[in-house]
Amino acid sequence: MKENLIKSKQRVQKHGEVFTPAWMVQKMLDTPGVKEACENVSATFLEPSAGDGNFLQAILERKLEAVVRQFDKRNWKTKSLVALSSIYGIEFLEDNLEVARSRMFLCYLDWYEKNLRTRLNSKNNVYRSAHYLIHKNIVRGNTLTQQHPVTGEPIWFNEWQMVKGHPSLVRKIPFALSELLGKEVEDDRTVVEGQLSFSDIDDEFRIEDEAVEKTDKIEEITIQKVYLLGD
Ligand SMILES: C[S@@+](CC[C@H](N)C(=O)[O-])C[C@H]1O[C@@H](n2cnc3c(N)ncnc32)[C@H](O)[C@@H]1O
Repeated sequence: MKENLIKSKQRVQKHGEVFTPAWMVQKMLDTPGVKEACENVSATFLEPSAGDGNFLQAILERKLEAVVRQFDKRNWKTKSLVALSSIYGIEFLEDNLEVARSRMFLCYLDWYEKNLRTRLNSKNNVYRSAHYLIHKNIVRGNTLTQQHPVTGEPIWFNEWQMVKGHPSLVRKIPFALSELLGKEVEDDRTVVEGQLSFSDIDDEFRIEDEAVEKTDKIEEITIQKVYLLGD
């Protein structure tokens, strides 16, 4: 199928918008080191100019394949959400951002239906959590200034840190992109010490079905209900 790699001459000139063809995305993801990271469900990725999501979707597809290969079926819901929570993106243009988010969500829903033989709907916790994680992790911003292009707000993300000994429990730890890049944060939100150390998760599994703890800055909840944390 023919891919449209350019939308308009103006957009190429103004935003450098030339999309990467699928074959090249796959080749780049096959690079030693990157390939292994794509097969590690919890390894974090940040796409600094996400476009309409060519890399984001390809990484998600590889991680979801890894979930099926590496884990028992009873853990697929939790592990697939962990995979989703590990993929971050920033995109300058609103229309591209929406396409990128939609592609991620459709990719997740298709995978879920194919492998878990159930169609998710908007009343389902996993559906809501997947939608929430995508909207939290893939955001509008200017990577160079680490700010929103219209409001000037700093770009904030959350680390979704798995709680040791609780295989489905996740801790939401906010951090500013500028902090990740080693710059001062001009914002009144507290930056928690150690929050940028993305840790590996335990490999054992147990589904815990209840929120455990909520505090002002660090909140913990089962990843299948992570959307309940809200903003
Ligand atoms: C060359 S395209 C690449 C898109 C995607 N990475 C791909 O390979 O298909 C560049 C994209 O980066 C976005 N972009 C350009 N400058 C940016 C910036 N400073 N911060 C975030 N996104 C940016 C553009 O809006 C455009 O969608």
